[in-house]
Amino acid sequence: MIAVAILAAGRGTRMKSHLPKVLHSLGGRSLVQRVLDSLSDIQPSRRLVIIGYGGDAVQDALQLEAGLEFVLQTEQLGTGHAAQQLMPHLQGFEGDLLILNGDVPLIRPQTIKLLLDTHQQAQNAATILTAHLPDPKGYGRVFCDGQNIVKQIVEDRDCTMAQKQNRRINAGIYCFRWSALAEILPQLQSNNDQQEYYLTDTVNYLEPVMAVDVDDYQEILGINDRKQLASAYGILQTRVKEDWMAAGVTMVDPDSITIDDAVQIAPDVIIEPQTHLRGKTSIQSGCRIGPGSLVENSQIGKNVTVLYSVVTDSVVQANSRVGPYAHLRGRVEVGETCRIGNFVELKNTTLGDRTNVAHLSYLGDATVGTQVNVGAGTITANYDGVNKHPTVIGDRSKTGSNSVLVAPITVGADVTVAAGSTLTDDVPDDSLAIARARQVVKPGWRLPEAKSDQQNKKPSD
Ligand code: UD1
Ligand code: CA
Repeated sequence: MIAVAILAAGRGTRMKSHLPKVLHSLGGRSLVQRVLDSLSDIQPSRRLVIIGYGGDAVQDALQLEAGLEFVLQTEQLGTGHAAQQLMPHLQGFEGDLLILNGDVPLIRPQTIKLLLDTHQQAQNAATILTAHLPDPKGYGRVFCDGQNIVKQIVEDRDCTMAQKQNRRINAGIYCFRWSALAEILPQLQSNNDQQEYYLTDTVNYLEPVMAVDVDDYQEILGINDRKQLASAYGILQTRVKEDWMAAGVTMVDPDSITIDDAVQIAPDVIIEPQTHLRGKTSIQSGCRIGPGSLVENSQIGKNVTVLYSVVTDSVVQANSRVGPYAHLRGRVEVGETCRIGNFVELKNTTLGDRTNVAHLSYLGDATVGTQVNVGAGTITANYDGVNKHPTVIGDRSKTGSNSVLVAPITVGADVTVAAGSTLTDDVPDDSLAIARARQVVKPGWRLPEAKSDQQNKKPSD
């Protein structure tokens, strides 16, 4: 049996943030969420999260994770003290406890599996994950004998100059035989530079403790400040983009592109420079996305182009063209073979197939049929200052340039709306609607003659 505990109670002072460190976002998922997701290759029977600073916020952020147990560490007196809080919860638990720092988010599921398998096969009291870092500054140094048996872990700030030369570091990911750990946890002392109870000191009391090296040291980089958060993002981006390129996606200037790791991209998609794909987005084959676009939580069908545009929480069906300079937001659904053109904003709007909104329009809370032509500058006036109202436009209708549809309003099918109309009433199918003042022409009309200079002078001149 395996239980997992994630240490997530610390404030993360070096982040200089009100947000608990483990809730900072890395490529669309919080640090602690990433650590939880790294458990996908093992089947823990229990998952405990130790919370403290900002505990309510951490609990809220993880509320969709079924079966998590939260353990409160009211004072943060160190990682060993955090582990001590588990004792009443795991009383009588017979099995292994995997402990992970909540601020080590790049760990791969296979690595955790390897740690656990090694621990169980060797029947160790504890097995810890280590890495050889080019720059080990800030990490606990791990001292082993020739057989990878751990003798001591010394925190960076407690190291002598000679000890600092050791580049083998503690990743903050451990497997313990719980019964052995529970016995010695109460014995921890806080006689170190930080006056904290260190989980790492448990290796002094347990036997045997084995170190397992991770192949790719980038997996175990801890996040303690914003600089490390940024470099972790860089590592993640390199991983994600290399995977997509290997899967058949073309990226023009990958350094200028960012892709969250929940994004799905089919082969033969071209991602152009300065393009950002975020959240639960999927892109079907044949699409060209960018340059200069942001697509977030959206589904893009086959052969769609999105040029210099922002698409959020929306669906765009096959063969449609979006942009340049379009903004789709708030559950927009664009049908097949549509054209959403220059300077168009769509909000909570559905467009049927082969409908065009090509220039300078705002459609909000609108349901538009198929083969509709929304003329340049057509606006739905959907907001009366208090409430939002719907607009419906039937199939094959055409709105003239600069029309205003004052919602709530229904324009039927096969309707033509004259340019410059302000429609306030419904329009039946098969009709022409004109709602504008008639043009007045006065033949022979001239400006009045200019008055003579003398008469024109003001008294002050
Ligand atoms: C810790 C390790 C260090 C290792 C490094 C790897 C100890 C003593 N040191 O150092 O050997 O190289 O991680 O990244 O363990 N936390 C609590 N309660 C507390 C204190 C911390 O839950 O009272 C949590 C934090 O939220 C964090 C994790 O434990 O997620 C690690 O704490 P942190 O203070 O960042 O430890 P490091 O100094 O990085
Ligand atoms: Ca840390």
